[in-house]
Amino acid sequence: MKTDDQLAHLRKLRDEALLGGGQERIDKQHAKGLMTARERIDLLLDKGSFEEFDMFKTHRCRDFDMDKQVYLGDGVVTGHGTVDGRTVYVFAQDFTVLGGSLSETFAEKICKIMDLAMKNGAPVVGLNDSGGARIQEGIGSLAGYSEIFQRNVMASGVIPQISAIFGPCAGGAVYSPALTDFVIMVQKKSYMFLTGPKVVKSVTHEDVNEETLGGAAMHASRSGVVDYPASSGADAIAYVRRLLSFLPQNNMENPPIVPCSDAVERLIPELNHIIPENPNAAYDMKSVILQTVDNGDFCEVKENFAPNLIVGFARYNGMSVGIVANQPAHLSGVLDIDSSVKGARFVRFCDCFNIPVVTFVDVPGFLPGTAQEFGGVIRNGAKILYAYAEATIPKVTVITRKAYGGAYCVMSSKHLRGDINYAWPSAEIAVMGAKGAAEVLHGKAARQAEDPAAFLAEKEKEYQDRVANPYVAAQRGYIDDIVEPSQTRMRIIRALALLRNKRDTNPMKKHGNIPL
Ligand code: HXC
Repeated sequence: MKTDDQLAHLRKLRDEALLGGGQERIDKQHAKGLMTARERIDLLLDKGSFEEFDMFKTHRCRDFDMDKQVYLGDGVVTGHGTVDGRTVYVFAQDFTVLGGSLSETFAEKICKIMDLAMKNGAPVVGLNDSGGARIQEGIGSLAGYSEIFQRNVMASGVIPQISAIFGPCAGGAVYSPALTDFVIMVQKKSYMFLTGPKVVKSVTHEDVNEETLGGAAMHASRSGVVDYPASSGADAIAYVRRLLSFLPQNNMENPPIVPCSDAVERLIPELNHIIPENPNAAYDMKSVILQTVDNGDFCEVKENFAPNLIVGFARYNGMSVGIVANQPAHLSGVLDIDSSVKGARFVRFCDCFNIPVVTFVDVPGFLPGTAQEFGGVIRNGAKILYAYAEATIPKVTVITRKAYGGAYCVMSSKHLRGDINYAWPSAEIAVMGAKGAAEVLHGKAARQAEDPAAFLAEKEKEYQDRVANPYVAAQRGYIDDIVEPSQTRMRIIRALALLRNKRDTNPMKKHGNIPL
């Protein structure tokens, strides 16, 4: 072949590969309001940065007439590019090719970029839209999934892994996203479940549709599988880019520092009056976060799941931090099973990737009740304790109001290697609230008193004054300083600067045994 012919042949093959399953199927995808795999990659990566691998790879299946259904690239687009100038490896499942179903060679393509991402220390983003295992291939497909799972696990804690789900994701295929650090789903367009509505009906006789069983809204609020329910495919991709901006490329790096346009010494007088007079009245902890972080920029994670605990990423003086905060405006900020698991997973992620954690504490304790005890609040509550205790990243804590009982210990206390622990003057650090304490200690005497209510009120005040304040803890050095709320931003930034070169280690071991 002459050079020109060779070039023409290459271009023809490229054009064919770019069309995936063909124009008709691309049109069908658009008609459903969905992007194609390549359009998603284009939106994710910096313009023109995509380098594709294995565009000409095809499946090797010859059963079920599959030799007549061969598509260049075999239904998954893989390669690398940049997001804000930093390398990211990406795979995008192409629903136009055999429903994005996963074959042996499809899996090989994904494994190749995962191996490269691990070797070169860069995140992997998976854009999922697939009918699951390629039915014609059987074991080849199952083996392929398993190879991906193994790499997901090996990559965990080494490079960030992010999954976005744009369409179907069912059966064992859900486990690769589930093993990654963050899962984003597109509302009303995607679903994730182990078994679909028909199987559910035949096994449990429940009538349920796809959206109710495994839609983004359910997973973001009830199962906790999803970190962000996106309003559209473009919104999902924008969230992935935003998330990446806070993260280092791998576990050997520190997170990126960006120029900070928000004054480091900015005072926030409103915070001096945010705590209500009534100790049982709520206030919005999110406003404390938004007012203290750089430019009010907070990337919340799992917003709709266990909203009694807020987690997400922000920056102080341009430095990425993970924020964990009890939310008194929801269930009084109590710790329960879901919030414990949510907090534990987030703290462990930050610890993997050298992201300091700033914790705002206003917690009345663990949620009582049979539902919690039967559900294993002991085992699950232990997770957040374990996560804080094993974390070696910088840990800065601000107690704004209540820090009662076990929940005081858990929430990044000095005793769990909290590095800098601050309290506002409104902090109440005690075994329990003053009212409960007065009843336990003086209930019997109160019943014999002339005016039991007045007697108990007096004892409550006594307990409040003597114990439920930050000064007893400060006297012991468990609180490093009692800060004026208005100075919180400045003090957190100074603490983080102090801890920038922190080094701490855990004993050598294969791995710990977190209570799962
Ligand atoms: C091969 C598949 C396929 C699959 C879809 N297609 N799923 N081909 N293997 N798993 C093909 C269809 O034949 C069709 O081809 C094209 O993709 C588009 O599919 P449609 O059905 O026309 O699309 P739609 O109506 O949107 O429905 C999408 C769907 C449905 C809900 C995903 O196709 C479906 O139910 N597929 C089967 C899902 C499934 O049971 N997968 C196995 C799960 S178990 P043509 O040529 O007509 O365009 C699993 C185990 C993993 O994944 C285990 C890991 C450990």
